[in-house]
Amino acid sequence: MERDHKADPAAALGLPPGAFEKLDAEDDALFYEPPRLVCHIDDGAIAALTALYRKVLPPGGVLLDLMSSWVSHLPPEIGYGQIVGHGMNATELAANPRLDRWFIQDLNRDPNLPLDDASVDAAMICVSIQYLQQPVAVLREVARVLRPGAPLVISFSNRCFWTKAVAIWRALDVEGHARLVELYLRHAGFPRIESHRLAEWVEDTSDPMTAVVGWV
Ligand SMILES: C[S@@+](CC[C@H](N)C(=O)[O-])C[C@H]1O[C@@H](n2cnc3c(N)ncnc32)[C@H](O)[C@@H]1O
Repeated sequence: MERDHKADPAAALGLPPGAFEKLDAEDDALFYEPPRLVCHIDDGAIAALTALYRKVLPPGGVLLDLMSSWVSHLPPEIGYGQIVGHGMNATELAANPRLDRWFIQDLNRDPNLPLDDASVDAAMICVSIQYLQQPVAVLREVARVLRPGAPLVISFSNRCFWTKAVAIWRALDVEGHARLVELYLRHAGFPRIESHRLAEWVEDTSDPMTAVVGWV
């Protein structure tokens, strides 16, 4: 049967039917209702990500921490002009000392960001991209709000809330995740994309960490 590439985000990316289905199809708001004031990656992975942020995010700029929580992993010594947070849990976002303001929005229900065109100097999505069911629609919105030449850093490890990760993520390994995120960024119109292996996996010792950076 012919698939509708406009209405079906998986078909538009050439992915199999059901690629963006989750094992837990309940409302995401229910899952994220209890605050989780925990670290989702280990100290080594966080340090590697912070080091990348130090190089890529412009000091003094306006940052957007999309799909955030109580930590943003930013270099503590660097001041930014304004840091806008987004997430699913008010208690987590209120506890994040780096955020100047924040908003709550289920991006699987509404991928449109309530931000002006070309108003942000850099954006981050940390250990969360696997939960998006319309990733290209969201990343197109990020491209819209970024100023020309600005970066989006998408980082991920090998851990996740399994029942909330989309099927295509669950089917792939770390290399596959990087290729998938690059595919998302290409389809969202990011002309320059670079992948960085930030930390290697060592059993019971260290979490792997990868970042894919796209520039508009
Ligand atoms: C594992 S946490 C990562 C939080 C934070 N970025 C960090 O580094 O600790 C996953 C986050 O994804 C976001 N998220 C999950 N599902 C979402 C949805 N449907 N819409 C918007 N954000 C969502 C929430 O902000 C949630 O805290």
